[in-house]
Amino acid sequence: MGLNFPDFFKRSSAGLLGIDISASSVKVVELLPGQKTAIRLERYAIEPIERGAINDGNVENPELVAAALGRAMRRLGTRTREVALAMPASAVITKRIMLPAGLPEEDYELQVETEASQYIPFAIEEVNLDFQILGPSAIDADEIDVLLAASRKEKVEDRVAVAEMCGLRAVVVDIDSYAARIALEHVASFLPNGGQGQIIAVFDIGQSVTTVSIILNGATIFEREQIFGGQDLTQDLMRLYGLSPEEAELKKRTGELPENYRVDVLEPYIERGVTDITRALQFFFTSTPYSRVDRIYLAGGACVVPGLCEGVSERTQVPAEILSPFQGMEIADTVRERQLRLDAPALVTACGLALRRFDA
Ligand SMILES: Nc1ncnc2c1ncn2[C@@H]1O[C@H](COP(=O)(O)OP(=O)(O)OP(=O)(O)O)[C@@H](O)[C@H]1O
Ligand SMILES: [Mg+2]
Repeated sequence: MGLNFPDFFKRSSAGLLGIDISASSVKVVELLPGQKTAIRLERYAIEPIERGAINDGNVENPELVAAALGRAMRRLGTRTREVALAMPASAVITKRIMLPAGLPEEDYELQVETEASQYIPFAIEEVNLDFQILGPSAIDADEIDVLLAASRKEKVEDRVAVAEMCGLRAVVVDIDSYAARIALEHVASFLPNGGQGQIIAVFDIGQSVTTVSIILNGATIFEREQIFGGQDLTQDLMRLYGLSPEEAELKKRTGELPENYRVDVLEPYIERGVTDITRALQFFFTSTPYSRVDRIYLAGGACVVPGLCEGVSERTQVPAEILSPFQGMEIADTVRERQLRLDAPALVTACGLALRRFDA
């Protein structure tokens, strides 16, 4: 329930596609109720977005982004038209506030609006505002904790418009990091004791940025961004072998490269990634009261380069594995499992969005 449509926190029970529009590609995931397990991965698609169409999380060229989404939808071949989108966390202001308990719903809307105006550097008419009641406050029994989320209307509308250009209706607009955490919680639920008490570090290695999130009992206890991504390796290939971006992107995946590639390019790249990850953990230890991490998950399209996960595990002495958000789900026959193993870590956010139709 929110003040504006579409809602940040709404859960949808009908068919729903999770759509992650990110720097390098559009990713679409459809989950359905399974036969043997609660959830089945029915279909997914990843389609590259032309460079520059998304810049710094902003939709610079809606037509190009819609073209990529349109290609993904044709490959997907689904009838589902309702979708969940995500805003980049950097485009959303979130704030925990306390409000008196036991008010009628409408009063909360009014109170949230009044409170929000203190935190938002824009006119209230210019923002999409939403809130979620978190529960009784631990500090004051007469108060409840409320999470409010606000984003510039035009930024939300940019993304909703891309969906509309493809005949899709955005019924949920989430925050990308929240969606990713939903997916992680799904995976953590398969750990002993549901992952309770475990300090879990997730490194999402995307196109140009690695997002580090460290989670304990469902709460994020550390978050940071580092400049390291798959693009660095693509650019090395372009420079050293005179390849176009498209060729470099392809050969990176097939590994059809000159003999010196491994030693001269891939190994130094992995070394940089492993060093960055190790440094992030050291920073976590020195800047928080925590002194251990129990488990590392690597996510994002770039984490599958051969040797990276092993390198991280070896250097940090923490068990590291590549995150598949589809753990414990049935996989439809039409999904190619070998390709899915490579694609799954890039689909964490899209999967978290698609999970909104389940009470996961
Ligand atoms: N099979 C693969 N092998 C190697 N690299 C891959 C593979 N699949 C994807 N990548 C790389 O992953 C990167 C894209 O990852 P991802 O889709 O997670 O990024 P993004 O979400 O678009 O970007 P960001 O998170 O920075 O906004 C690209 O650099 C791409 O080359
Ligand atoms: Mg990403």
